[in-house]
Amino acid sequence: MMREGAPKTIYRKDYEAPDFLIDSVDLAFDIFDGRTRVSSKLDIKRNGTNQAPLVLDGESLGIVCLKIDGRTLGADEYRYTNGKLTIDKVPDQLCFEAEVDITPEENTSLEGLYRSRTMYCTQCEAEGYRKITFGLDRPDVLSTYTVSLTADKDTCPVLLSNGNEVSRSDAGDNRHTVVWHDPHPKPSYLFAIVAGDLELVSDTFTTVSGKTVDLRIWVEAKDIGYCEHAMTSLQASMRWDEERYGLEYDLDLFNIVAVDDFNMGAMENKSLNIFNTSCVLAHPDITTDLGYQRVESVVAHEYFHNFSGNRVTCRDWFQLSLKEGFTVYRDAEFSADMNSRGVKRIEDVAFLRTHQFAEDAGPMAHPVRPDSFIEISNFYTMTVYEKGAEVVRMLNTLLGDEAFYRGASLYFERFDGMAVTCDDFVDAMQEASGKDLSQFRRWYEQAGTPVIAVETKFDEASGTFDISFAQRNPPTPGQDNKPPLHIPVAMSLLVDGKHQDLGEGEKERVMELTEASETVSFSGLSKKPVLSLLRGFSAPVRLELEQSRDDLVALIGFDDDPYVRWDASQRLAFEAIDEGTGLLAPDYIDALRRVLDGPSEAAMKAQLLALPTEASIADRHSQSGLVDVHKIHEAKQRVAGALGEGLREELTQILNKGMAASEAYAPSAAQIGDRALMHTALNLLVASDSTWLNTAREMYFAATNLSDRLCAARLVVHYGDDVHREEVLQHFFDRWQSENLVVNQWFVMQATRPTMSTVADVIALTEHAAFDWRNPNKVRSLISSFAGANPVAFHSTDGSGYALLGDAVRRLQSDNPQIASRMLAPLTRFKRYAHGQEMMRAQLTSIAALDNLSQDVFEVVQRSLSDG
Ligand code: TRP
Ligand code: ZN
Repeated sequence: MMREGAPKTIYRKDYEAPDFLIDSVDLAFDIFDGRTRVSSKLDIKRNGTNQAPLVLDGESLGIVCLKIDGRTLGADEYRYTNGKLTIDKVPDQLCFEAEVDITPEENTSLEGLYRSRTMYCTQCEAEGYRKITFGLDRPDVLSTYTVSLTADKDTCPVLLSNGNEVSRSDAGDNRHTVVWHDPHPKPSYLFAIVAGDLELVSDTFTTVSGKTVDLRIWVEAKDIGYCEHAMTSLQASMRWDEERYGLEYDLDLFNIVAVDDFNMGAMENKSLNIFNTSCVLAHPDITTDLGYQRVESVVAHEYFHNFSGNRVTCRDWFQLSLKEGFTVYRDAEFSADMNSRGVKRIEDVAFLRTHQFAEDAGPMAHPVRPDSFIEISNFYTMTVYEKGAEVVRMLNTLLGDEAFYRGASLYFERFDGMAVTCDDFVDAMQEASGKDLSQFRRWYEQAGTPVIAVETKFDEASGTFDISFAQRNPPTPGQDNKPPLHIPVAMSLLVDGKHQDLGEGEKERVMELTEASETVSFSGLSKKPVLSLLRGFSAPVRLELEQSRDDLVALIGFDDDPYVRWDASQRLAFEAIDEGTGLLAPDYIDALRRVLDGPSEAAMKAQLLALPTEASIADRHSQSGLVDVHKIHEAKQRVAGALGEGLREELTQILNKGMAASEAYAPSAAQIGDRALMHTALNLLVASDSTWLNTAREMYFAATNLSDRLCAARLVVHYGDDVHREEVLQHFFDRWQSENLVVNQWFVMQATRPTMSTVADVIALTEHAAFDWRNPNKVRSLISSFAGANPVAFHSTDGSGYALLGDAVRRLQSDNPQIASRMLAPLTRFKRYAHGQEMMRAQLTSIAALDNLSQDVFEVVQRSLSDG
């Protein structure tokens, strides 16, 4: 539902402490089919000395009754407009009571209280609480909650909220009541309830001090067999946070609920995490290897929020990265410890470099800590999450582990139970380390991706190697001139394949760039070294560094940093793709052959062998000109074919070995790596010769897990003839139609087929019985993967792909503004493309002209159209 009133921009500089605080909140939910009555009782006190009126947030609430200190208010004693309830004269301390009616069954926005299939659940972050009842819906008002839930015993046997269960009783009329109390004061965005017919998987965790915590995962009965992986991931996360950060869980109970209709991945409500089913359920039949890793990392992410987010929370939504950036960094390190560290880093860098860099270069570019917004939901972005995590990683790199963890402990102790800012976080790091971080703070203020141009010079006679760095911070909307950042650049030098001693036995040095340009020198070198730069991707920057093919080959072969090896292989791939003929230089093939024959772990081999995604090639091209997606697709296909041809023997061996594997499926790092390598091999072989599609078809029918099945099916569906494509699609659907999450993959497979006729297929699929516009996972699988992961079809030259997305946004934008707004991203970057700019712009203009435009979509469209 659109908010009433004109869209209003909120500025960070206008922050003011709240006029009132709420010590305790008492809520009672009386849930009936078609109507829920919410009664609330707030203990309010004035904060400060001004005599401001009491203004509470509340959106589309049906007021039944309002009281102050027990006395019912007459209609002339309050005003309720534009989502605000105003009461002019109130005492400094008061008890406010409200009874309101809401209709969760009609709530399609999936924020506030809504119904998903058979269950009722809430999503309050960021500003959904105000759709449930009146309150101060801002993160710097922390209250203790007591929540009573009453509902029908048969349809809602399970009634959950935050904290501990206090009592249960019969409410007559086949209804029952359960009361919950959460002893930890929290902001409204962390409040949650769930009511429904759910089954339970339970286990326990014994904390470091010996306390037993009950762990409960609640799912629909049909999904009861799919919870084991989430449970072990949760236990591993709890242990990891104790060992790494010294943080021990602070209640006796931790609940996870799986919900099918959910706008995002999951939500960290205090002790009642609510998850998108796609981020919690796992089983070899319904989950890919990447899916298993996603479940593990999202479970960890939400658990880690218990401290980085819940115990220490955000003062205002501009500080969102305080909890999100830090928590993404924590979950990334956890995943690195649980799996292959190097491969996890490569995956994260690949994601950041293509998608966050594109965001930084587009109309929605904003700093990690934004200065203004219209709709905060639009700022749950890759910049706030992933770039925010890189900023925390840089702090760790600059401070070293010891000072960094001391800084983290200081932060958690000092700000426990408080709502704080990104500056408070950096202050703690600065104090613990004694390091001056004043220039570093610019990372929070400046939008855009810094560019570092590097030149090197070797003086044969003296054995001196000079590296000079020039830092540029390109303009972004609203930020034209930016001073230099404090950038940690990790480096090393290789001579004859060996990392050199850079002094005092160190083989790696972290240089700290702080000036627009600076030079460092290394002497005493016997030969011109190969430069290993930005090791571990030590800063989220673009490097401009010319290196010879021989240097790149040396880095692939001998560097001990996985990121640097991978980046070198990507650069050779980029060159081959840009060259365009599909004729590959022998040094490239030989380098990869040595990788395949060498000792690297399989997952690493797969990364080195895999060609860059079309999106990352496009991002690279956008740096020097306009992007031609069709040319990129064809050039990449040619290179893939040539690689398949050039490495046929090695790849065939990998494939045969993989297909003969008989071990039972496990989502272990080793097995996942083996499968990734096998899949890469099959992909390249198919690109080289379509008769390999027969092997793909065999693999599809023989598969015993979704990873193999999907890899094989995708190849047949994308590149096979009509008969085989239909055969596999039909078989896949018939076999898996009862598994929602697998059907989503069936949609993705079709939506990403790289041909222009996919537009018509996707339109037809929106009419399929298994598709549902109200389910965000379905919309993402069909529409967003088409628009975001199928450049060839989305950029169909007749503009039909843009129209498809425009129609989808127009159809969804008032029912679910958050999803509609996110879906828009591919249209907003129209300026990057060589073709179709006008047609993309026309779609945006037509959306802008809607008269019931939600403020979510309004903000994105407006920024896109007014950029430049
Ligand atoms: N805090 C959640 C997370 O990162 C994000 C989230 C879940 C969210 N649901 C949302 C953000 C709805 C905005 C709207 O784990
Ligand atoms: Zn989060």
